Amino acid sequence: MPSFSFVPQFKAASKSMLNAVKANAHSSSKSDSFKRYTVFGTSIVLASAATAYYFKDNNNNKNGSNLSSNWLKGFFGFGAANSVASRDTDTNIKPKSFYQQVYNDIALKLRDEDEFDDGSYGPILVRLAWHSSGSHDRRDKTEKQGGSYAGTMRFKKEQKDPENAGLGIARNFLKPIKEKYPELSYGDLYTLGGVTAIQELSGPKIQWRPGRVDQPKSAIPPYHRLPDAHMTTGEYVRSVFGTRLGFNDKEMVNLIGVGHAIGRCHPNASGFDGPWTFSPTMVTNDFFNLLLNEEWELRKWDGPKQYTDVKTKSLMMLPTDMVLRTDPVFRRYCEEYAKDSDKCMSDFAVVFSRLLELGSHFPSSSEKFTLDTLDDQDI
Ligand code: HEM
Repeated sequence: MPSFSFVPQFKAASKSMLNAVKANAHSSSKSDSFKRYTVFGTSIVLASAATAYYFKDNNNNKNGSNLSSNWLKGFFGFGAANSVASRDTDTNIKPKSFYQQVYNDIALKLRDEDEFDDGSYGPILVRLAWHSSGSHDRRDKTEKQGGSYAGTMRFKKEQKDPENAGLGIARNFLKPIKEKYPELSYGDLYTLGGVTAIQELSGPKIQWRPGRVDQPKSAIPPYHRLPDAHMTTGEYVRSVFGTRLGFNDKEMVNLIGVGHAIGRCHPNASGFDGPWTFSPTMVTNDFFNLLLNEEWELRKWDGPKQYTDVKTKSLMMLPTDMVLRTDPVFRRYCEEYAKDSDKCMSDFAVVFSRLLELGSHFPSSSEKFTLDTLDDQDI
């Protein structure tokens, strides 16, 4: 995301302040004492500004958004002049208790509304978080580099990317949360929704941090960055998760396999049909065990090419899932994760957290934390 450098604004302000000092100093219509006060006051402002700017420069913050620059923006009213930059501030970050409250509201809604699909909106919230983040391309240095930071999934154009079909359900689920907490950016909302869902579906604790800032339509990333499930080669999976998103082979195996332990495919969304596991509302390593140990055959049906388990014919695998079984390197990691559930979950906690931050630049005051589940809080 573009970072909003304060430098030109600071220079312009300094210049106009200096001009004001000069003008006042030469004004014959003002009394001498008024002139002195004006010059004195202006000097204080400039000295404070310079001090704050010094600290900004010495604060190693990628976003260029920190207390000093924000103080300056606020002081000079620059925030108001640039609506995008104005949100790119530390003051955007609330105390952890605020996000715990949002988490609880999402979690309680998940618990209350248990009639959807296999009994939870959790999986579709995870998919929304992943699709908001997976649009990132680390090679793209423009504002269209994608990822969750810009919150562009709120725009119709991104919603209409065929890979995002069906996600309106997740966005609608989160709508009342956004209405209750309008100060929460869409990027923070969508990613926190995914974190809440993973944790409430018995998954590992996911470190998360706030500070994403909604950006305008011009930041919408191009289509076709999210993976196409019809593809059948390791090269393709690596082109998305490696070249574009920056994950290694083991990390991509982990993300796909844990992601597809929950939820299901919907014929009216992707065209594919069915769940991957027998417990689609529990975050587990079951995907890996089933992928490796079950016998899979092509499903005979009118829909797109997908696999079904021979024994029960109730589970499914996408062509891209099957690549994790056929590619020898991917397969080795599947075997590792099938055997070691704890390792699978602790690795997922790390890579999912990273996925949700791709392309983001957080203010210095935004630290990673974990939030408590409803169970932890005895709610
Ligand atoms: C090669 C990579 C991937 C492909 C091709 C892919 C494709 C798909 C497709 C076609 C669906 C069905 C959508 C529907 O019909 O509703 C789906 C669902 C899902 N995906 Fe993936 N996906 C990939 C990676 C991931 C990753 C990395 C995650 C998360 C870490 C993830 C999480 C999910 C979840 C939770 C669902 C179920 C959503 C629901 O129940 O509504 N997927 N995916």
